[in-house]
Amino acid sequence: MARVYVKNDDKWVDVPDGSKLSALNGKCSILFACEEGVCGSCLSTIIEGAENLEPPSEKEKQTLEMFGAKPNQRLLCQTVIKGGEVKVEQ
Ligand code: FES
Repeated sequence: MARVYVKNDDKWVDVPDGSKLSALNGKCSILFACEEGVCGSCLSTIIEGAENLEPPSEKEKQTLEMFGAKPNQRLLCQTVIKGGEVKVEQ
């Protein structure tokens, strides 16, 4: 089981290893809309633990570029956590 700290809510959420972080939907205040890497509503900053995430897919990279995202920002609905701990903030 992996753990995600959501700074906005000051809480930890457990998610299965290898899952997309859309698993946070409904368990924290981060907004998810399309869950397909298109709308940008889940764009968040990775505060710590980026090494525990799979790199972005081409599709995610395109959307990140479209929204002018910083290098430490990801679309959580497209981000896969390998395991361990990650800290995020929206
Ligand atoms: S929910 Fe739309 S891009 Fe993640």
